[in-house]
Amino acid sequence: MSLQEWFKMKIMFKIVLSVSTALNFLSFPLIAMEKEEKKVSTVYKVQKASTVSLTKKEEDKEKQTGTSTSKEKTGDSTQYLAFGKKGAIVVSLKASIPDSLAGEKTEAFLKSTKLELVKTDGSTDPKSICKKDVGYSFPSISPWCLITAGYIKDKYESSGKRLSLGDWGCGHGFFSAYAMIVGADPYALESQRAAAEEANKYIFGAREYLPKGLDIRTLYKVVLGSVTKPSEKFMARENDVNVAFNVLHHLSPSDSDLLLKNMFKNTAQGGLVVLCCDTPFDSSIGVEYFNQSLQKKVTYPGFGLYNKSNIVFKDTGKKSTALLSVCRPTKKEIDSLKTGQIYMGSYPQNDLLDDTQTLFVDDPDDTQKGNILRHKAPYYYRNFYQLLNKFDFEALKEVVEASGFIVVNGWYTDHTLDTLYPHDSEIDTSICKKSKVVIVGYKK
Ligand SMILES: C[S@@+](CC[C@H](N)C(=O)[O-])C[C@H]1O[C@@H](n2cnc3c(N)ncnc32)[C@H](O)[C@@H]1O
Repeated sequence: MSLQEWFKMKIMFKIVLSVSTALNFLSFPLIAMEKEEKKVSTVYKVQKASTVSLTKKEEDKEKQTGTSTSKEKTGDSTQYLAFGKKGAIVVSLKASIPDSLAGEKTEAFLKSTKLELVKTDGSTDPKSICKKDVGYSFPSISPWCLITAGYIKDKYESSGKRLSLGDWGCGHGFFSAYAMIVGADPYALESQRAAAEEANKYIFGAREYLPKGLDIRTLYKVVLGSVTKPSEKFMARENDVNVAFNVLHHLSPSDSDLLLKNMFKNTAQGGLVVLCCDTPFDSSIGVEYFNQSLQKKVTYPGFGLYNKSNIVFKDTGKKSTALLSVCRPTKKEIDSLKTGQIYMGSYPQNDLLDDTQTLFVDDPDDTQKGNILRHKAPYYYRNFYQLLNKFDFEALKEVVEASGFIVVNGWYTDHTLDTLYPHDSEIDTSICKKSKVVIVGYKK
């Protein structure tokens, strides 16, 4: 695409967005869900479940071992074949877009989403941290979006019926818009008004990428609410696909259980669940803490308190500018903090911290490779902290299955790559940082 075309497209998109914004403000929260599926004007070419493909190496291995990707992995779950595949899965945006909508325009629209911090104070400075920053909205081209959209597209094309989708903690609605384009009716839930409004605008702005003849107002809905306490109306619609992308790690263990329980309840029989969460592998300190917790056999081994601080050690007087500390918060502490939010300001009372479990990284260069120091009583200032839940595949599988789902498969991935690496194989961390774990399950 030439620079000129790109600018043209950008201007067009802005116009569409501003008109849709105006319309949306009039109609938020949105539009009745109840509707009859309109006849899709285009008959899509029915393709094999081919948005996921094996790497060349995998294919060779299969030929050698005689294993087949078409082999069922989980009892009667024929529809989850694509997810049951062994080996790395390469996904592509192009392959997930229906033929009739394929083309640079749709792709450019989906690619235009970028990592965006969800802010609720109206601030636009990406560096500032406000009291209610609640996390990032991830681009549509993230592998968990691609794999789920591929599934939706294939099911829609083979059945001719749109899939009902629950998008729990939708952020800016990037995935819901994508899913709507490829064949879903999204019902998106978000606890932050600013993010929900953003999602509403963005999804509405995707209407020109729909097959002709569809009324977008009958296709999607965004509602303000909590994943731990969704409204009866939200729960009343059973979904063929339920996703919670990058939400579970913002919740406390008890809230995570509630989310999963609600998702299970709200998934149709035979329906799919896809989750994506942060892992502890982004730092050695995180891994150490995670492994220690695993040994203690706690159900949510990666639930901890992460601090970034300016620190001055009492004994050496040494200053450190970047610091990460991890510890399992006490019940009192959990109650005193609202999860899902990042706070500015000094940390509350020191006696809320269990110093024996608090590890400090001496990392003045911010390499996260510094020595781990176990200062008994360091003198420190904290200016930033966040409660997060982190998961490896096994830990996530345990909680997902405890809620009733049957797990089909899982992978590690970066959010910038198009490859999902199998959870049960060694992953070259110079290629994939294993920053996210993705899991797929279904309700029997
Ligand atoms: C990291 S963002 C992810 C957004 C989006 N799902 C994605 O992957 O791009 C987490 C989102 O979950 C929302 N969230 C956190 N706790 C929530 C809750 N209890 N109920 C509903 N949404 C919640 C946040 O407001 C935020 O928009």
